[in-house]
This record gives sequence, structure tokens and C-alpha cells, in this order.
Amino acid sequence: MTEHRQAALEYARQHEDEFLAALKEVVAIPSISTDPDAKADIHRTAEWLAQRLRDLGMQGVAVMPTGGHPVVYAEWMGALGKPVALVYGHYDVQPVDPLELWTNPPFQPTQVGENLFARGTSDMKGQVMASLNAIESIVRTGDFPVNLKFLIEGEEEIGSPSLKKWLTDNRELLKSDFCLNPDAGMLGKEYPTITYGLRGLVYFELKVFGPDHDLHSGLAGGIVHNPAQALAELIAAMHDADGHITLPGFYDSVRALSQQERADFLRLPTSDADYVATTGVPSLWGEPEYIPAERIGARPTLEINGMISGFTGAGQKTVLPAWAMAKISCRLVPDQDSDEVHAQLTRFLQEKAPATIRWDLQKLSGAPASISDLNQPAAQSLSRAMETVWGSRPYFKREGGSIPVAGYMQNILGIDSVLTGFGLPDDNLHAPNEKMHIPTWYKGTQALIHFFFNLAEG
Ligand code: BES
Ligand code: MN
Repeated sequence: MTEHRQAALEYARQHEDEFLAALKEVVAIPSISTDPDAKADIHRTAEWLAQRLRDLGMQGVAVMPTGGHPVVYAEWMGALGKPVALVYGHYDVQPVDPLELWTNPPFQPTQVGENLFARGTSDMKGQVMASLNAIESIVRTGDFPVNLKFLIEGEEEIGSPSLKKWLTDNRELLKSDFCLNPDAGMLGKEYPTITYGLRGLVYFELKVFGPDHDLHSGLAGGIVHNPAQALAELIAAMHDADGHITLPGFYDSVRALSQQERADFLRLPTSDADYVATTGVPSLWGEPEYIPAERIGARPTLEINGMISGFTGAGQKTVLPAWAMAKISCRLVPDQDSDEVHAQLTRFLQEKAPATIRWDLQKLSGAPASISDLNQPAAQSLSRAMETVWGSRPYFKREGGSIPVAGYMQNILGIDSVLTGFGLPDDNLHAPNEKMHIPTWYKGTQALIHFFFNLAEG
């Protein structure tokens, strides 16, 4: 092992407390991208990261406008002839509701045993900081062994609506060999994981309108089709009894799983019982001909994210509501297209909606699925780095979550992403009491240090 690598690993071990203190600072800023009142905090977070990058000696550091929330850009191009790594992150977080279910305030980082609780610790400010900590450990102990570019966005949790155009406009600036994206997680703390596939996402809002105002349910019930009921009937018809989606043509372009892929899924260290335990459901549900890991990693879904209609307060009110609304999204797999799914859902509604109501469907965002090449040098470098730190070869996995930038980078920049991360299945992503396992985070930093040196050594 080179002296520099050794020194960097040692630097990281000696600065664990400082790293944790910095993470606590940045997760205390409530950068909720979907909240229109959070603009100032969004900018504060971007500036905080930009300053951190300047302190590390990165060049060209800029908080760049996108039309939406800004992107933090930086680079260090001092390693002539060596690969260029584009380090991705997102500094925005999900909303915190329901607030009353948090044991500690979501933006007051709280350490309990080996975990740090706060919104954004695991998804993904902790992952961004793991990358920066690794980079700090290396630059403080010598010259960086590869070239770096940074793209840290503020709109991932709302589907990265400004990124497609921003990537297209900045294609030259972003020219890199691959992207390091630590926004995916691990299968367990003893299971280092490299994710090689992500699902895409298309998000809709469906409104059903009935009477032109709320009605007395005694005076109108029985003659007016209740919009809440009509919406429920439409939603119920979107799946068959086996959990297949019934939108016309929905599965036509879905890429089938090969024998090899099915064998790989079977080897993952997850059982039905694990999924029951991590979700808390009485029993699993879904397409019976696929195992749960396949249903999450490689099959498309249609989900109701929320519904609202009529009276939902305390007590009772006899009302026949004027409208009902559902937030509906589909996870997409390779070869599905978000605009085609929009057309399929529109056709479904045209065919199925009764004449007793009117409806309106809006597409809010769409992002493609992605599959990365595991044979690319960066994936191999990371695999060896993880094996060095954990003492076992990483698992290779297709994950059900979505990271729009991964597909955009393939389509727009022509580069693959190496997807990893140090979050655990019980980190409560997007939910109350989000947390991050601190010892795993430190291991992640060590792994990323090895990764950058492995990459340079080829
Ligand atoms: N980090 C997640 C996605 C993820 C989680 C990937 C776990 C792999 C393993 C990311 O921040 C996320 O939540 N993305 C959103 C994207 C959407 C709004 C377009 C998602 O998947 O819901
Ligand atoms: Mn997320």
C-alpha cells in the first residue's frame, strides 16, 4: 500500500469527530426542495457545500442557477492523464411530515448510540459528506490521484426537473469518465453493495370532479356519483387480483429478465421474512411469479401516494364532496418511457371513467430507469475498495428507488454511474426518524479513499 493511501486512511480515522460535527451542521439546514418557503435554506445549504469545497482546494467552485434550485459545481483537474470522476450528490431532502412521529426534531441532529437521527442524514447529506471526507483525507495528505468534478443538485427529491436542460447546457463542462453516485444504499451493515440498476419514475396527479359544490349527502346521496367513490373505483381497477397493472399496453415495452438476472436475484441475502420485518406489514403482496427482490428491482409498479376528498377532520360531517384527488406514480424499468405511460393512463381513464364524473390528469415529472455496466474500471475499483474494508465481496443489486440523474447522464453525457452508498435498510428514508449508522459511515469513508487510489492505479 502506498504511503499516501496509508496517510489518508489514517487522517480519516483521526478526524472522525470533526467529520461528524460537520455533518451535524449541514443536516441542521432544512433544505426541503418541495417546500416553496425553503428557498433561503436551499441556498444556504448550497453555499455551505460550496465553501466546504473551496476549503478543500477545489477549483471553479460555483453555485450555478438552473431555473430551479441551484447546482453546486466544482472541479480539480490536476492529475494529468488520470481518469475524471464526476462526484454526484443531492443536498435537498424530503418533507418531514408527519412531524408528531419524530422522537427528536427532524433538523436537530441527535445521536443515540451508534446512530445519528435527522432528516437527510442517510438520504443523502451523509453520503455527500462521506465523499467529501474521503477527498479531504486525500488532499490533506498529498496530491489527489485522479481528476474530480462535482455536481451536487438541490432538486433530486422532486424528480430533478431542471437537470435535463442543465446537463445539456453544460455537457462540455461535465465531460468525465464516469459518475460516482453514493445515493443508493446497502443491503445490511455487513453487506457492502454496489447498485447497478435503478427504476425510473413518473408522477401524476389525478382529480375527479362530481357536483360543482359540496352537497348534503342526505339530499344528494343516491342520485350523484360520489367523486371519492368514483376515484376509488378507478384506482381499484388499475391492478388485477394478482397485482398486475391493467393500463392498456403497460407491459409491452418492459424488458424481460434473463435467466442469468433471475439467478442473480435469487442469490441476494434477502428473504420474504426480511421484507416483512423491515416494512412491518402482516404479509407481502404483489406479482406471484416474481420474488420480492425482483418485484422491487426489475418490475414496474403503480402506487397511490395519497388521496384526499371531502371531510377528513375530527368528528363527523355528512357531505358528498365535490371532488377527489389522488397522487399516483409508477416505477419504471428499462425500455419504459414516462410519456408512454402517461398516454396509457390517459387511455385507461378514457375507457374506464364513468359518464357521471369529469377527470383531469396531470403529469408532474418523469425520469428514466438506468442500468450500469459492472465491468467498467470504476465499478471494479469500488468493488475492490469495499472488499478491502468489509472483508467480503460486495453484493451487486438492482434497486427499486429512482435517481433521475443516472439515466440522464447515460442519455445526455454518455457516462455510466457507479451507484453505492452507506445507508441501511432501517434508516427510515423519507419517513419520520430518518437516521444514519455512524460506524458504517466511517467505513464508507475508508472505502471511498481506497476507491480513489484504486482508480488511479488502474
Ligand atoms: N436515494 C434515493 C433513491 C434510492 C434509495 C436509491 C435507496 C437506491 C436505494 C433518492 O433520494 C430518492 O428517494 N429518489 C426519489 C426520486 C424521485 C423523486 C424521482 C425516489 O426514488 O422516490
Ligand atoms: Mn430520497
